[in-house]
Amino acid sequence: MKTSYDKLIENNKVWAAQKLQEAPEFFNLSAQGQAPEFLWVGCSDSRVPANEITGTESGEIFVHRNIANMVVHTDFNFMSVLQYAVEVLKVKHIIVCGHYGCGGVNAAMGPINNGLVNKWLRNIKEVYAKYESELNAIADKQARANRLVELNVIEQVHNLAKTSIVQKAWADRSLQIHGWVYGIGDGRIKDLDCMVHEIEDLEPIFRFEFPNNPLDL
Ligand code: CO
Repeated sequence: MKTSYDKLIENNKVWAAQKLQEAPEFFNLSAQGQAPEFLWVGCSDSRVPANEITGTESGEIFVHRNIANMVVHTDFNFMSVLQYAVEVLKVKHIIVCGHYGCGGVNAAMGPINNGLVNKWLRNIKEVYAKYESELNAIADKQARANRLVELNVIEQVHNLAKTSIVQKAWADRSLQIHGWVYGIGDGRIKDLDCMVHEIEDLEPIFRFEFPNNPLDL
């Protein structure tokens, strides 16, 4: 009997054959290495696949996804992805892409105890607390959640700027950090126009000095 995951393997065979037909050198080139221009920080939500919604091919975007597209400085998984993307791959752009209808953001807005995931969602609750007066003034719950999705993206853009990894890159090259929100209901990406690209975009307390700091992680 065929299982649901058998379909995935079968799809893969069809996909690989199609790719070979379209571009006989595709896999040979892929195997030689990657040089993506973008690092994508997105939500794990199954409806927000980075390559599919941006019309990009494999090899074009280095991807990190977690619940509610968070940049948490104690998250060694993400920090390792960031360091590799910035220092080795030398990506030119980092895109934080949230999405409306985000389950993580919705959960963070409520009082329900979700166990371990509370520790993660607390970071979103901090964003709510920071913008509490603006958010509480929005009567419609859906509109309030949508705004928190946007504010959360903006905060994660700044969290990226607060890392020494990004600031060290800024000391000698261009690196832009963008904040976007994807609409699950219409498939459209909205640019929040909150791009940061230099140390002056960051509050002074978060700025590090380079190149004289040996502890640069
Ligand atoms: Co989400």
